[in-house]
Amino acid sequence: MVYTLAMKTVYEVKNWLKEHLNNERYIHSLGCADSAKKLAKMYNLDEEKAYLAGLVHDCAKCYSNEQLENILVNNMSFEKNALINPKTYHSPAGAYVAKHELGINDEEILSAIHHHTIGKLNMTTFEKIIFLADKIEAETRDKIWREKILSILPQENGLDKSLLECYSYTIKSLIDRKLKICLDTINIYNELLSKIE
Ligand SMILES: [Fe+2]
Ligand SMILES: [Fe+2]
Repeated sequence: MVYTLAMKTVYEVKNWLKEHLNNERYIHSLGCADSAKKLAKMYNLDEEKAYLAGLVHDCAKCYSNEQLENILVNNMSFEKNALINPKTYHSPAGAYVAKHELGINDEEILSAIHHHTIGKLNMTTFEKIIFLADKIEAETRDKIWREKILSILPQENGLDKSLLECYSYTIKSLIDRKLKICLDTINIYNELLSKIE
């Protein structure tokens, strides 16, 4: 018999997050949930599902690098030598934690959590709004940045234009800090650019 963890209620998920995140990360998660819900409304998607994805997206953020590496290598078949940037580990590992600790089985939610840091090619609208909610939520993110994105969203192809703005900012910032840019980031930037042309 396959044991399936019963999905926790939103109240139980919040209590789990309070125990496993620091306070700032918990507040950010609440902000991301609210922002995801608003974006879901704009794009006629399931608002409660978006709220849950936003709430849970950083569930593994406060795990140690060692814990995250263990999940990725032992439970998700990642190659150890393919793990390069520890800041990104909590996204795929978070999808595992959401499924196995919180009982979330919705593939769209799990994929949005998995890809919320780097993104991926051909993101669904749901994945895009979770990615964006993380960047513009009202609790801990910069107000001027959020207002800039909110002014782009109503434009034609506004969601892709907003994502392009995020990727441009990330790439410029990596260059300024003389940090490596992963090829996925460049490929997604190029894909978004051709989508809005
Ligand atoms: Fe994150
Ligand atoms: Fe986040």
